[in-house]
Amino acid sequence: MTKFNIPISKPNLTKKDFLEIKKCFDSSWISSKSPWVEKFEKSFAKKISGTKYSVAVNSGTSALFLALKALEIGPGDEVILPTLTMIATVNAITWVGAKPILVDSVSKNDWNMNPNKIEEKITSKTKAILPVHIYGYPCNMNEINKIAKKHKLYVIEDAAEAMGALYKGKITGSLSDISCFSLYSNKIITTGNGGMVCTNNQNIYKLIKKLSFFDFNEKTHFKHNLIGYNLVLSGLQAALGYSQVKKFDRLLNKRRQVFEWYRKNLKNKHVSLIIPSKEDSPNYWFPAVITKDKKTKEIIAKKLFNDKIETRDFFLPIHLQPVYKRDFQGEKYPISEYFFERGLLLPSCFDLSLSQVTQICKFFN
Ligand SMILES: Cc1ncc(COP(=O)(O)O)c(C=O)c1O
Repeated sequence: MTKFNIPISKPNLTKKDFLEIKKCFDSSWISSKSPWVEKFEKSFAKKISGTKYSVAVNSGTSALFLALKALEIGPGDEVILPTLTMIATVNAITWVGAKPILVDSVSKNDWNMNPNKIEEKITSKTKAILPVHIYGYPCNMNEINKIAKKHKLYVIEDAAEAMGALYKGKITGSLSDISCFSLYSNKIITTGNGGMVCTNNQNIYKLIKKLSFFDFNEKTHFKHNLIGYNLVLSGLQAALGYSQVKKFDRLLNKRRQVFEWYRKNLKNKHVSLIIPSKEDSPNYWFPAVITKDKKTKEIIAKKLFNDKIETRDFFLPIHLQPVYKRDFQGEKYPISEYFFERGLLLPSCFDLSLSQVTQICKFFN
């Protein structure tokens, strides 16, 4: 594995985090039954998702899977999602046996799902719309929720990358029936691997709790009414998450600061950044630059790599994924391809300094 001088991301792990994990370790409550799981869930709901309830799980993908299961989405159903997303979004849909239906991005200035293209994809089989706040930029939730209401569809927000992002002043992850977050190590706060399913609906919350852990219940432990799963987070991981939530504001502000540094340093260079509408505040999970063409992106990425600076391509759109492309033959999503060809993600993390950002920006001319 290449050792980078500036990695694309690095978790912020401190002595304080370690001491919280140690407290959990010393208590012997290390499994999902640990009081740290409840502490983490409650603090996450209060501080990050802005929902009444949240359930800690072992990944963002499990969060999406459980959200779909809880809404009884399965074979014969269709779910509408953007083609420009990480593979987990579509995999969760196919895991439950439903059919993914794709929508292109809005424009060359907005990579999120285009609400104006959703209605033409709705059929009698459509059960849900699954918007993704890509790279921490909020989707047009008002439009998406309006369409969902008109057609009586559920909305599940894939907020895996969007912790702390604000849509018209409202918290992303609190704007739908269920939202799903990832706590993988490159996210703003992390539990190593992990995820969170969040909702304001008590019945959905109770069902997700049951489904996430074998439908165990208090009274008759080994009598099960549902086919449950084992997708829970351990106490040790929850202790780390609980400690990380406490510094969420600082970690989030740093991402915004880093983006601002890139914005200033990339002014007058031949790349563009996506600037959100004035009403929204992305979390700038990863700063993304759009180069003038594919070749330019490849040349810059190579130069950065040679200087041991890590970058990442944009997601390969779902309709081009080797594993899914047969399902979407003949369908065209040109804006997602525009972003895939020209988009490059740059490093961002709590430790990144202004001089490192300046160093990175020198490669763009
Ligand atoms: C948009 C999106 N959805 C879902 C996931 C899946 O999360 P996890 O890796 O925690 O399973 C990710 C992962 O980063 C993601 O970027």
